[in-house]
This record gives sequence, structure tokens and C-alpha cells, in this order.
Amino acid sequence: MDIREIRVEDLNVDRFIGEKTKEIASIVGSGTAVNALSGGVDSSAVTMLAHRALGTRVKTYFVENGIMREGEPQRVVSIFEKLGVPVELVDAKEAFFRALRGVTDPELKRQAITDTFYKDVLARLVRSSGARHLLHGTNYTDVEETVAGIKRQHNILEQLRIDTQKEYGYKVIEPLIELRKTGVRMVAKALGLPKEIYDRPPFPGPALAARVIGEVTSERVEIVRKATKIVEEELAASNAFQYLAVLHEDRVTGIRGGKREFGSQIGVRCFDSTDAVTATPTRLPFETLERLGQRIPAEVHGVVSVTYNVTRKPPTTIEAV
Ligand code: XMP
Repeated sequence: MDIREIRVEDLNVDRFIGEKTKEIASIVGSGTAVNALSGGVDSSAVTMLAHRALGTRVKTYFVENGIMREGEPQRVVSIFEKLGVPVELVDAKEAFFRALRGVTDPELKRQAITDTFYKDVLARLVRSSGARHLLHGTNYTDVEETVAGIKRQHNILEQLRIDTQKEYGYKVIEPLIELRKTGVRMVAKALGLPKEIYDRPPFPGPALAARVIGEVTSERVEIVRKATKIVEEELAASNAFQYLAVLHEDRVTGIRGGKREFGSQIGVRCFDSTDAVTATPTRLPFETLERLGQRIPAEVHGVVSVTYNVTRKPPTTIEAV
């Protein structure tokens, strides 16, 4: 890897913000740029840096891909509105579900999401806005894991030798590429983002599609979305690094209303970790697990079984896909 990491002990946040703001302004010159905001700490920090550097010459989009958590698009747009940053919500649900139709292989799923996002939706937005640059929140760990071949992070392009100019029609600017998550969080805080953004638990780029085993349809995403909401409510006070719900592909026999129901299974995962590189399943109180076991089948249509993952990373990974 030919990118130099800036470790947190060497990070001077104000100087970093000053330098990156200048750099962005100089690369974009008198042109315009776009960036896509997901509400994650990386894209949020990039959005703030871009607006500092370019003002009204950067246009920020939130791409509604149909695989976000409940209420997420509206919540993120309203947080940025309060910060004086206008965000345009783009409805691209159909394009994503079309690309995901029939795809069950994990890497192909990630590939379908990457291609839809960059080649289809963003390329169209960049073209129609006349921008030549896309700003983008790639961080050092994303590059490292992708280059190591562990998991293709959906936002890695140039490190995989993808010529974005040739393939998608725009150049990519990656102001956070030398930082790991802790550094990005420090920068995000200094840029005035609220705690719910700079301290947000991690959430994967491929969103809920990373938590649906087998085909990702809007119906199956809705199941995992509802289960995710319950898991997030119940485990918010757990202090864990990350917690999530996974929808399995296999179905099992259950009983509802005295009748046999051949239903879905949700796997709950909750991990203690500091860097996501290794992780240990959180020793949740059994009462908490029981509450999840009761609430999920009661509130999510068609679910008859809830399990808890007790395997460490490695060999497991935090996300299921
Ligand atoms: P895994 O599943 O590889 O996840 O153990 C490690 C951490 O990374 C997050 N994750 C992603 N983040 N784009 C992201 O921005 C992705 O494609 C992606 N996949 C996994 C995951 O939620 C965990 O925190």
C-alpha cells in the first residue's frame, strides 16, 4: 500500500482540517463536485469538509437505496439541514433491487451494490450536475481490508485499480484515506457534527444487504429492518461495539396460533471490540436475550426463531455477508 497512515497520536485535527479544505478547493478549482452522504461518520465528515472547502459548489446527495434502517434517510437529511447543509434525497430503490434480484453470493451482492451506486446512480448524478469530482469517505482500514482480500469494502475503487474517470466519468477525492475510524471521529467532532454522528456505532456500506443471507428482496429487507430496530432498542444500553440482526435463508418449523408455521430465523449478533479487526461476542444478560427471543417473533411477521451468535471474530466476521 502506498498510502501513509496518520495515527491518532500524530493527528493534529485542526491542521488536518485546514490542509484538507485547501487541498479539496485546489483540486476542484473553479469546477463543481458532488458527494453522497449516508449518515455514517466517514461520509458525514467528508460532507462537512467539502462544504467548508467549496460552499455552494458542492452538491450533497443522500441515495435512498431501499436497504437502510427504518427512518434513516429522513433522519440524516434533517440533521444536516440543522447544520445548514442542504442534502437532496434521491430515490434509487428500484435500481438497487433490480441489481440484487436473484443474487445470493456475498461478494456478488456487494459488487451489485457497488456497481449500482457508482456506475449507475452516482454517475448519473455527477453527469447531470456537470461535476467532475466525487468526494468520498474512504478510510485507511477500508483500503487495507480490501487490498488484503478479506472483504470487498463497497467504497474501494482506485486501490483496486479501477480508473474512475474511465469507468464512471468522474475523478474521486478521498480526504480521509490516511485516517482510521478513531481519527475520522475526532475530525467529525471538530467539524461540528453532533455526537449521534461522530460517535455513531459502525454500519456497513452495503447496509441491511450485509445482513440478509440469500436473495435481497424488499420483503426480506423489511424483515431484517424490523428486527434491527428491535435489536438496536434492546441493546442500546449494552455498551457493545456493534449489534445487529441477520436474516437467515433457511426456514424452520414453528407454531403460531396453535398452527404450524414454516417461518424465518433471525440471528442476533452483538460484539465487544475496539477496532472491528477482532471481536468477542458480548456476554449479554440472559434476560436480554430472552426479551429479543420474545419480541422479534411477536413483532416481525413470519419470524419463528431467534438465535445468538457466540463465535469470535475471527473466524466469524461482524456482518454476515
Ligand atoms: P466485518 O463484517 O468485516 O466488519 O467483520 C468489520 C466492520 O466493518 C463494517 N463493514 C463495513 N463498513 N463498508 C463499510 O463502510 C462495508 O462494505 C462494510 N462491511 C463491513 C462492519 O459493520 C464492522 O463494523
